[in-house]
Amino acid sequence: MPARPVRIAPSILSADFSRLGDEVRAVDKAGGDWIHIDVMDGHFVPNISMGPLVVAAVRKVTTKPLDVHLMIAPADPHLTAFARAGADSITVHAEAGPHLHRSLQAIRAEGKKAGVALNPATPISAIAHVIDSIDLLLIMSVNPGFGAQAFIHDSIEKLRQANALIDERPIDLEVDGGIAPETAGRVIAAGANVLVAGNAIFAGNDPKTYAERIEALRIQDVSEWS
Ligand code: DX5
Ligand code: ZN
Repeated sequence: MPARPVRIAPSILSADFSRLGDEVRAVDKAGGDWIHIDVMDGHFVPNISMGPLVVAAVRKVTTKPLDVHLMIAPADPHLTAFARAGADSITVHAEAGPHLHRSLQAIRAEGKKAGVALNPATPISAIAHVIDSIDLLLIMSVNPGFGAQAFIHDSIEKLRQANALIDERPIDLEVDGGIAPETAGRVIAAGANVLVAGNAIFAGNDPKTYAERIEALRIQDVSEWS
């Protein structure tokens, strides 16, 4: 069990975009801790989603931390725009460019939390030499690009390895993809403390369901999986 408190980060990729402001307000009120914003470029990943204008729009309707997940390559030319749009943390993929250390420095220079995301095929060793330059490590438990995909079970072992590498450092360990009540306990037991969830919260887009769904992911007793 990590000492870090468990945070739930609703992913607005599964929100109803025709009423995005209301959807963000609803998950904020329902207890979502961070708002996770998936930025996709149709190049690094096969889908195209949203950019800094959407981050700025979301910034206007919530004071919760905006957790911006960049699935774009290159990322460096766009970091300032996302910082100015109101991101609190900016996460780049280790696979997205040759100069990860520089990207992390640039994010911290903007005064933001610097995150690194790893695709399912990328080993934890890829970030061993930048571990002291990051505030957040995001383990992808699906191949990035789409919501509502099946959880990749090898991610559990990867989270354990990530947790061991992080050790006592003040780094959040986030997991993204296929998180649902059935997988939440396992990932928390493996060391994850920030759980991203799109489909498990937004499916059906009925705000009345959000609070119960968010709480269903905040599993306290993980002894069954420890
Ligand atoms: C996938 C995105 C995820 C996505 C997760 O590429 O990074 O944040 O929204 O969606 P679910 O929780 O539905 O798997
Ligand atoms: Zn994401």
